[in-house]
Amino acid sequence: MTLVFATNNPHKVAEVNDVLRGANLEGIEVVTMTAVGHTTDLPETHETILENAIEKAEYLHNKYGVACFSEDTGLEIDVLNGEPGVHTAHYSGSRNPADNIAKVLNLMHEATLRTARFRTIIVLILRGGEQYVFEGICEGVIRLEPAGEGGFGYDPIFEPVGYNLTFAELPMSVKSNISHRGRATAKLIDFLRTT
Ligand code: IMP
Repeated sequence: MTLVFATNNPHKVAEVNDVLRGANLEGIEVVTMTAVGHTTDLPETHETILENAIEKAEYLHNKYGVACFSEDTGLEIDVLNGEPGVHTAHYSGSRNPADNIAKVLNLMHEATLRTARFRTIIVLILRGGEQYVFEGICEGVIRLEPAGEGGFGYDPIFEPVGYNLTFAELPMSVKSNISHRGRATAKLIDFLRTT
C-alpha cells in the first residue's frame, strides 16, 4: 500500500519519516504529495485542527483517489485560553516563526503560569474512503526566551515535561519519541500494523 502524506512542510515529513523508519512497516510506502503531482498548499478553512485535518485529507483523497493521511497541529497555551490553537501557523499575521514566537512571548511577558501543550491530529483515509483519526499530545511549558537551533516553528520556546531543554535543543530522535507528532504517528503505525 502506498500512503500519501498530505503536507508540504518538509519538517513534518522529516519527523514522520523518522518515526516510520524505526517502525519497519513492511508493505507500506509513505510518499509526499509531489509523488501525485500536487505542489500547492492544501485548504485549511476551519476553526478546529480536527476539521482542518479532515479537510486536507479529503481534498487529496477526492482529487487523486489515493490512500492518504494529513496532520494538523496546534499549540495551546493555558494563560492565553488555549491560543494560538487553530491559529498557530499564522498567529502574528504571518508564517514567520520569529514573529509568531515574539507575539507569544510578548503576550506572556508577565505570566507565571506557563503551561502549554502541542496537539496533533492525524486523519487517515484509505482507498475505499474509510476515515480514521489519531491524536498525540505533548505537555510542556513556554520558556521566557528562545533557546536552540533545531526543529521548527515554536520549538525554541517549548520545553517538554521531563526535560530541561527546548524542542529546538533536543535531537530529532528524542523529539520524535515524545512529541505530539511522534505520538500521533505511533498510533497511526499501530493501526496500520493491524490492517
Ligand atoms: P499546521 O499543522 O501546518 O497548521 O501548522 C501549525 C503551525 O504549528 C506550524 O506552522 C508551526 O508554526 C507550528 N508547529 C507545528 N508543529 C510544530 C512542532 O512540532 N514544533 C513547533 N511548532 C510546530
